[in-house]
Amino acid sequence: MMIVFKKVVVILLFSIEFSCSSMIDLTQKWIPNAGWEVDCLWTLVENDELQSVRLYNNGQQFFIYRPEINGTSKSEYYRTRAWDVRCRETSEKGVTGACVVSAELIKPPQDFNFTCEVSGERPTFRIETKSILVSASVPPSDAHISVATMDSESGRVTLNCTSSGLPSPTLIWTIGAQRVPPDFSSSAWNYTTKVYDAWSAVSYSWADAGLPATCTPETHRRGRTTPAAPAQYSGARGGAGERDLVALVLAVAALL
Ligand SMILES: *[C@@H]1O[C@H](CO)[C@@H](O)[C@H](O)[C@H]1NC(C)=O
Ligand SMILES: *[C@@H]1O[C@H](CO)[C@@H](O)[C@H](O)[C@H]1NC(C)=O
Ligand SMILES: *[C@@H]1O[C@H](CO)[C@@H](O)[C@H](O)[C@H]1NC(C)=O
Ligand SMILES: *[C@@H]1O[C@H](CO)[C@@H](O)[C@H](O)[C@H]1NC(C)=O
Repeated sequence: MMIVFKKVVVILLFSIEFSCSSMIDLTQKWIPNAGWEVDCLWTLVENDELQSVRLYNNGQQFFIYRPEINGTSKSEYYRTRAWDVRCRETSEKGVTGACVVSAELIKPPQDFNFTCEVSGERPTFRIETKSILVSASVPPSDAHISVATMDSESGRVTLNCTSSGLPSPTLIWTIGAQRVPPDFSSSAWNYTTKVYDAWSAVSYSWADAGLPATCTPETHRRGRTTPAAPAQYSGARGGAGERDLVALVLAVAALL
């Protein structure tokens, strides 16, 4: 009987605590060709009023919105960081509202620790704070292989594999089951997409080997590997034509 009673008390305390505290929902998402969008949505306790919203970058306050002074919304653009901040109330007295921060990716992209602090009105000035670590990383795009050069006499091809991401994707080549180093590889920051475009070229005598070439993109960051879908070249014009089949049969026959 005693145990049951204790449980009820605990649950009661829990729900009181919950309903008395305001809430912040802080999220991040990557928008192609733009950068990061960080959203801070708040909900105060019902009878409270919004006193202020403060935004911090790596612990440093850079923005404050006070409805008393600024009215129902405030926007600001930060040229040096290419950040656009828009905060607004979405209900009476700012009981609910949102700040949307569009952080354009600029080179070199850096992680940032973003904090949203929402304060209620006097006398309690109930403060709720939430932080999010925005990681300057974008998964690699799926690999794409194009034929850069092809000598139909010798059957020698130069393949070019591309992928985009942040940090710059590494492109891994395998011919058959054998991993091979690229002949050339390079990457460049794309000012439109705000990610790195990487490419890697490999030459081999397709007719001799009769083996498909596979390119797999990967990004490496803080010991974590993020792969993307590989692309495969399996012969002339990318398809497994009749000539490919003959070569494959010959290759298999040679193995036997
Ligand atoms: C982010 O900043 C907040 C406030 O300055 C701090 O409490 C938190 O530990 C920081 N988080 C990370 C991952 O650095
Ligand atoms: C908002 O208030 C701040 C003071 O907190 C003031 O410096 C700023 O000019 C105001 N901006 C607008 C758009 O009202
Ligand atoms: C591979 O493709 C990239 C991007 O289109 C291009 O810049 C590069 O010159 C190409 N490399 C070769 C060897 O064709
Ligand atoms: C940047 O990426 C876009 C979209 O993939 C592409 O069309 C454009 O050519 C790239 N810019 C450069 C300089 O490579």
